Amino acid sequence: MKLFISSIIFFILASPINAKQQAAVAMPDRFSAEIAEQVLKEGGNAVDAAIATAFSLAVTLPEAGNIGGGGFMLIYKDKKAQFLDYREVAPLTAHRDMYLDKNGEVIENLSLIGVKSSGVPGTVAGMWQAHKKYANLSWKKLLAPAIELASQGFIVPKHLADEKERVSKIFAGKKGINFEKYFSQLKTGALFKQPELAETLRRIAEHGPDGFYRGKTAQLIVEQMKKSGGLISKQDLDEYRAVWREPVSSDWKHYQIISSPPPSSGGTAVVQLLKMKQLLEKQFSGVPHNSPQYIHLLAEIEKRVYADRAKYMGDPGFLEVPVSKMVDSDYLKRRADEVNPDRISISEKVKPGLKESTQTTHYSIIDQWGNAVSNTYTINLSFGSGLVVEGAGFLLNNEMDDFSAKPGVPNAFGVVGGKANEIAPRKRMLSSMSPTILLEGERVKVVVGSPGGSTIITSVFQTLVNLIDFKMSPQNSVDVSRVHHQLLPENVIYFNPELPTKTTQKLQDMGYQLEENYLGDVQLVVRQKNGLSAAADARGRGESRVINWD
Ligand code: GLY
Repeated sequence: MKLFISSIIFFILASPINAKQQAAVAMPDRFSAEIAEQVLKEGGNAVDAAIATAFSLAVTLPEAGNIGGGGFMLIYKDKKAQFLDYREVAPLTAHRDMYLDKNGEVIENLSLIGVKSSGVPGTVAGMWQAHKKYANLSWKKLLAPAIELASQGFIVPKHLADEKERVSKIFAGKKGINFEKYFSQLKTGALFKQPELAETLRRIAEHGPDGFYRGKTAQLIVEQMKKSGGLISKQDLDEYRAVWREPVSSDWKHYQIISSPPPSSGGTAVVQLLKMKQLLEKQFSGVPHNSPQYIHLLAEIEKRVYADRAKYMGDPGFLEVPVSKMVDSDYLKRRADEVNPDRISISEKVKPGLKESTQTTHYSIIDQWGNAVSNTYTINLSFGSGLVVEGAGFLLNNEMDDFSAKPGVPNAFGVVGGKANEIAPRKRMLSSMSPTILLEGERVKVVVGSPGGSTIITSVFQTLVNLIDFKMSPQNSVDVSRVHHQLLPENVIYFNPELPTKTTQKLQDMGYQLEENYLGDVQLVVRQKNGLSAAADARGRGESRVINWD
């Protein structure tokens, strides 16, 4: 009888609130889409699905999915938003000038390739915190699919084999890299097994964070550091903590947008862009999507946002980041008023305005109860530092490059920084990751995010504008050509995929230089009148699914 009553109570509590009893996921590969669906069908919530897929992507999307990196998870559960910061931190022995030679010049590739480019990983601690606070299913159950994929292997998709080939050329001949030893078998259609990674995942499944930050895995990381001349120590690992933060939140139209706070610049920048575009409503009125005039106006507001980013943003544990001033409507009106609809503003004159990659991966989930997770995590560039912890089988990040190695010198994404983002022990490097949720009243309307380093911000911004302002379908909103400008390089507009020649010609006539570039892999879930929709970006190898309970 007792069992019967508790089953009824469980059934009532667990019953989906969506009229159609639906969940939806947009995932960066087929394996993670399958695992997310399975977890949700077995009574897991959005956070359970996010944890299981974080570990599975460490196996099947090794260029970005990870346990050797870090990221941000934005959670909306039971009508409350929470932001989990599991970003990497600089090791205790890191210091401001660690990437400069004796003449004060940046040493090429030191912050990008090999052992010195890695921050202390945060992913395992992050997933553990999310699990402790929100999960329905057991930790071991959520790790099981990843362990199986690593030990039994998976069939390598062409997209992954191509990416491996591209990156092999970058790592070729570089000292201290064991990339080929671990990934040479990534060939289209081949069965790819990762036995060392499977053992590491088993230790994590068995011991939680102690299976990574202490014991055998920690020992293997420290041995690798000794062998290769790296900085991460036993103390660094032991003392790493993921942090819960208040997300950035702002009104936009009749929605509430919630997104990433510092140490990401992403959420603040996305809000700045959306609000400035709205303030320039008159200038945008009647301007067709992706027309030369439209792209010019976007570039003008983006210039101002990236100037602010470079000056003001960094780890809030080390400096006060003036987020509320940066998203203040009066401030943004003043910035928007500087935009000349007919002419390019001179980059050097666009100063910060307040008075006083490429690889990362993202997924979006709405569960059958209406809870949502927007998770972006990364090892920075594709396949991170190129260094695998021997015996533990996972890649270390090259996230240290997201710090400003020297004021004004661009990082791998071409963005600059200064004091706010200089290196210091235990400091989190500035990010652009922008896991975002749009609320309509208390209900989740949109879950969105993307990889792409500094271009994440403009990918998320344009996807929201495509969906809400231009009323495009979810799939079209993510697939249509995107553009990107970030103040520097001067007057360069990146695009992907192609733009019509007459558009690029007109922009060139105005003084812009046009370049095709990687511009993200957006994963989008949307609540529409007739139910949930999901869209995975055609640029990647993602898969979206709407799951129906009938
Ligand atoms: N590693 C890219 C970012 O965090 O923005």
